[in-house]
Amino acid sequence: MVRELRAVISLGGSVAASPAPKLGFMREFARMLTGVVDRGYRVAVVVGGGRVAREYIRCASELGASQEVCDELGIAVTRMNARLIALALGERAHQRIPRSLEELPEWDRVIVMGGTEPGHTTDAVAAMLAVRLGAEVLVVATDVDGVYSADPKRFPEAVKYARIRAEELEELVGSVHTAGASTIVDPKAVRVIKEHGLRAVVVRGEVERIRAAILGGEHGGTEVVGGA
Ligand code: UTP
Repeated sequence: MVRELRAVISLGGSVAASPAPKLGFMREFARMLTGVVDRGYRVAVVVGGGRVAREYIRCASELGASQEVCDELGIAVTRMNARLIALALGERAHQRIPRSLEELPEWDRVIVMGGTEPGHTTDAVAAMLAVRLGAEVLVVATDVDGVYSADPKRFPEAVKYARIRAEELEELVGSVHTAGASTIVDPKAVRVIKEHGLRAVVVRGEVERIRAAILGGEHGGTEVVGGA
């Protein structure tokens, strides 16, 4: 018998859409998810904005736009990326992209969405969605292979955690949101993980690793344990 499992994936824009939407990756990701759904799992995906969102935010910011307007542009790009993922999934996914957690469709097909409102990133949306849907696992698929003691791109001596408590992760990422800024996991997402005792896995955004993180296999990333 298949164990009922509900997973929410925060699919980084760095993974699916940088420097521009990656059609090959999207197709491969959709094939993998179809296999997972066919085993009886329920899945929701929140897609990030990636480089394109960052460029829009940079331009708007140079034109004097407020943080809120910058965030709105970022959200628009995340929704376009979400639309492409939904198209790649075809009839397996709801094609209408919810704009908030208040307008979620029934979870009978894959739910795909982007951002909701200013003030956070799609990681936070995914964490809140995982709580709302009662998911057993939140998979954060990003361009790093896990949580390190410092940014490994800037500090080669940084060490990777196989497992970290949400409280410790909170200390690592700080607490302030800036449009287009990037921490390994958005501070608000970490708060939601901590407060709701969510199980999260931070994994490099390769399709096989994402699959392993959903199904409970060897993913090579970091397990984040919520709660005190
Ligand atoms: P992302 O979720 O893509 O942020 O949203 P990110 O940290 O750049 O992640 P990667 O690199 O794609 O993995 C892009 C921007 O859109 C705005 C924020 O400004 C964010 O930085 N946004 C997104 C919101 O304001 N609200 C949302 O719900 C989602």
